[in-house]
Amino acid sequence: MAQEDVFKKIVSHCKEYGFVFPSSDIYDGLGAVYDYGQNGVELKNNIKQYWWQSMVLLHENIVGLDSAIFMHPTVWKASGHVDAFNDPLIDNRDSKKRYRADVLIEDQIAKYDEKINKEVAKAAKRFGEAFDEAQFRATNARVLEHQAKRDALHERYAQAMNAMDLAELKQIILDEEIVCPISGTRNWTDVRQFNLMFKTEVGSTAEGASTIYLRPETAQGIFVNYLNVQKTGRMKLPFGIAQIGKAFRNEIVARQFIFRMREFEQMEMQFFVKPGTEMEWFRRWKETRMKWHQALGFGAENYRFHDHEKLAHYANAACDIEFRMPFGFKEVEGIHSRTDFDLKQHEKYSGRSIKYFDPETNESYTPYDIETSIGVDRMFLTVMCHSYAEEQLEGGETRVVLRLPAALAPVKLAVMPLVKKDGLPEKAREIIDELKFHFNCKYDEKDSIGKRYRRQDAIGTPYCVTVDHDSLTDGCVTLRDRDTMTQERVPISSLRGLLEDKVSITSLLKKLC
Ligand code: GAP
Repeated sequence: MAQEDVFKKIVSHCKEYGFVFPSSDIYDGLGAVYDYGQNGVELKNNIKQYWWQSMVLLHENIVGLDSAIFMHPTVWKASGHVDAFNDPLIDNRDSKKRYRADVLIEDQIAKYDEKINKEVAKAAKRFGEAFDEAQFRATNARVLEHQAKRDALHERYAQAMNAMDLAELKQIILDEEIVCPISGTRNWTDVRQFNLMFKTEVGSTAEGASTIYLRPETAQGIFVNYLNVQKTGRMKLPFGIAQIGKAFRNEIVARQFIFRMREFEQMEMQFFVKPGTEMEWFRRWKETRMKWHQALGFGAENYRFHDHEKLAHYANAACDIEFRMPFGFKEVEGIHSRTDFDLKQHEKYSGRSIKYFDPETNESYTPYDIETSIGVDRMFLTVMCHSYAEEQLEGGETRVVLRLPAALAPVKLAVMPLVKKDGLPEKAREIIDELKFHFNCKYDEKDSIGKRYRRQDAIGTPYCVTVDHDSLTDGCVTLRDRDTMTQERVPISSLRGLLEDKVSITSLLKKLC
């Protein structure tokens, strides 16, 4: 199945099974805003718990924070967001549609890549086993022609973006003959800068309302609380502050479902270190974060680091962790060495001294910062994309199964009486009443056992137990494993011991130590 079709299926599966709904669905939705349903919220909470515990429980020197979404407007002046948190946008005069100029050009680069890949796929089919892909790519005239055009475009685009040369971005769009996907025309406006922050007003007009912003990242809440936490927690460098919270960006091009949203959630950790040690910590956090991802068992080959060539003015190193989504390798997390830029800026704009007194050297200095920043929603998408599977079973039947890591699954155990009578429902409820304090259990008595298994497979429930007539006398149930579909008879009294370790976040955390 084409990857595009797989992605469409994942999106509709998310809606059909209560994971993700379009926001304000009965009003036909709101662009790039989504709600999490009964299963989605559980999965999302488990992802957040995995991240939070890996930071705050496993590191003695990392503490948590929950700062407000609204902040003093000067925060965003100091951080540079008021002046520089922009995307270059362009309108098509015929369709009246607005696009990100950089995205139009990146799509054009991707088209050259597609052409090359098509040539390679055709040749691979023609030559079979004997096909030498590297040699073909290095020598085939058509591939070389596409590659040369692609590289020249990439080079020109990178230069224009580095210099934020808006006229040149427009010229590239014209020279490449990029058309509007809706109108099919090249009737483009000039490229303009568009600030991504949402504005609102605080206070009534009579008192003199002031403009404030919905935070576009949670990080600044950490920087402005650096002194509070360091002093009240008597924190010594190196130490970190972790936070999970909503962020808002008025994305011009919002697409690929929950990949790029206007309201989303971030899990960010700022790790403050002594200047001069930041590169070593940057390296360590890259490793630590990759380990966190890979502990989920999605396969090392599906992740890669992408080191930034162009660094933001405040960074001296930056890297993304990318995951192989159905639409290609995409950024899930950013790791940035942000130097002392943010604390120094807040020092300058607030007039407060934000320094660390180092008792070992008797010096005061502004700490450097390593940031790890991951989107909860993007992580959710990663988990969904990797877990969704359609399987052909013996006898020609198919099943849709979410192979979620058990620790992240919304429901850990479904308890099913074989029939709705003879005391079996009561026995099933007894089991749930015993286990519900330890993990999320669901009772299910509707339809045949086969249908109930399929329903649980579709939401990723790792285990089901069936209570039958023998259970009333032998105290045993049938335990069914989602992935292998094998069934075994086990004592009811052993269920907690058998399952708790496998389905708890602790099982993931242990892989990190
Ligand atoms: N404080 C640094 C920062 O915000 P970023 O690369 O802009 O850096 C970090 O964002 C992470 O937040 C991204 O790797 C991504 O997972 C998530 N993210 C950013 N914009 C997003 C959006 N519009 N929708 C969903 N997730 C987003």
